[in-house]
This record gives sequence, C-alpha cells and structure tokens, in this order.
Amino acid sequence: MSDQEGADWIPPGADLSRPSAARIYDYLLGGAHNLAPDRAVAQQLQAIQPQVASVARRNRAFLRRAVRFLLEQGVRQFLDLGSGIPTVGNVHEVAQAVDPGARVVYVDYEPVAVAHSRMLLKDNPNAAALEADATDVEGVLASAEVTRLLDLRRPVGLLAITLGHYLPEVRGVFAGYRAALVPGSYLALTHLTNDFAVLSDPRVAETMRGTQDHIHPRTRDEVLALFEGFELVEPGLTTSANWRPDRLAAVVDPEEDGLYAGVGAKR
Ligand SMILES: C[S@@+](CC[C@H](N)C(=O)[O-])C[C@H]1O[C@@H](n2cnc3c(N)ncnc32)[C@H](O)[C@@H]1O
Repeated sequence: MSDQEGADWIPPGADLSRPSAARIYDYLLGGAHNLAPDRAVAQQLQAIQPQVASVARRNRAFLRRAVRFLLEQGVRQFLDLGSGIPTVGNVHEVAQAVDPGARVVYVDYEPVAVAHSRMLLKDNPNAAALEADATDVEGVLASAEVTRLLDLRRPVGLLAITLGHYLPEVRGVFAGYRAALVPGSYLALTHLTNDFAVLSDPRVAETMRGTQDHIHPRTRDEVLALFEGFELVEPGLTTSANWRPDRLAAVVDPEEDGLYAGVGAKR
C-alpha cells in the first residue's frame, strides 16, 4: 500500500504529487503528515546540511516566543500567514492558554495543512483555517474566516514565520497587510537568507526548485525593508534562536542559526 492510500489526513482530490514546503517541514519536525516525495526532498536537504532540522525547530520555538511576547503586549487576535501543518505549540494553543477568547486565523495554500488545521479546530469557535494564497491580500482580508474572527479596528498580530522567502515579490504583499492594520498591531517574521553559512549552499535553493515552493533567500537589508512602517522591538533583527531567548544558554551562532527573525510594532 502506498502511503497515500487509507490516510485520513489527505483531503479528497488534493494533488500531492509534488513535494511541498509544508510537508517537508512537517517531516523535519518529526511529524507524520508527509509523503515519500516530501521525505526524499527533506533527506536531500539534510544530506546537504545536517543542521536543517535544528533550524526548523529553532524557527518553531521563535514562533512560540513571539506569540507569547505579542500576548504580553495585549494582542488577542492573530493572522498567521503560511501557518503550515499543525504541530507542537500552534498559535491558538499558545494564545488561548493565556486567553481562551484569543482569536486566530490560519492561512495556507497547502491542502494538507488546511485540512489538518480544520480538523483540529472543529470545536474551537475562536480559530479557523483559510485555504488561500497569502499574496492575495484583499481576498484573505475579505474572507469569511477573517471577517468573522478578526476585528481589524483593533490590533492584530500578523505572523509571517518562514513565509517571505517563498514569495518572489514580497514588499507589496507585506505593505498590503500593513495598510490594513491599526497602530498597536505587530508583525513577526522569520526569513531565509544566504548571509549566514548554514543555509547558503546553492544546492538548498536548487533542491527546493523540485517542489511547489521555490525559495528566495534575502539579505539583511531586504528583510529589514519588510518592516517598513513598523518599529522593530528590542533586540531588533536577529536570527531565530537569538530573539529574546528563554535562557541565555539558548544563544546560537548566527552562522548556524540561519534565519532572520524579528518583531515590529505599528505605531
Ligand atoms: C516552512 S512552513 C512554516 C509553517 C509555520 N509558519 C512555521 O514557521 O512553523 C511554510 C508554509 O508556508 C506556506 N506557504 C508558502 N507560500 C505560501 C503562499 N503564497 N500562501 C500561503 N501559504 C504559503 C507553505 O505551504 C508552508 O505551509
């Protein structure tokens, strides 16, 4: 039996023949929502760079710390773009542990990510998953999920955690979301770069060209430009493990950490 047959997490009609970032990342994080072609790509990436799973885990840990930070700033609604397949410490779990009334809309264009999120959220009136391309800013903001759950007259935590590098044109997309957010809102992001050694091998981008999610690494200045209209909170743009680490011992050499990470406030 192929691993597609009989798997209840595969939405009917979904074409999963091409590997996807969502399922490759799920595999790297130790998840079970991936197929043989996804695992083959993940293993190719690991052969090029054995630390790739550590980069993924640290990215996920940044996501949790950033959401907790936004909660501390009083944010109670989140728009999570490129949210991926649910795994440990999903945004609604972190947020609703602090405030059960916190609202979360997940957005992804990968059918397994959306189907699995919907299954997880079926009894959760304050969170929903939207299947959409995040570059369709107007469509996302006008969706039933966003209009039902998010009040755009109040601050929103906009999350773009490892999203930007999948988008060939990124500034207009971020500017579109920024324009819809009121002061007091925040943007939290991570972004792949070639500025540091760990993911800069050109074979990483080459390998991802065999998937549906090509990557576009960006420089520090290009990532900083995504925060236009936001004021970076301390400690500014770092790498993922080094943004407000829980413990000093968690500090990682940026050359190994690999992803830019930051949080900005809209004033
Ligand atoms: C590596 S996963 C990251 C998941 C989660 N944000 C995290 O950091 O743990 C990147 C996700 O972005 C999604 N993605 C990439 N391009 C997208 C787009 N244009 N619109 C919506 N989702 C997109 C992929 O499907 C994938 O689920």
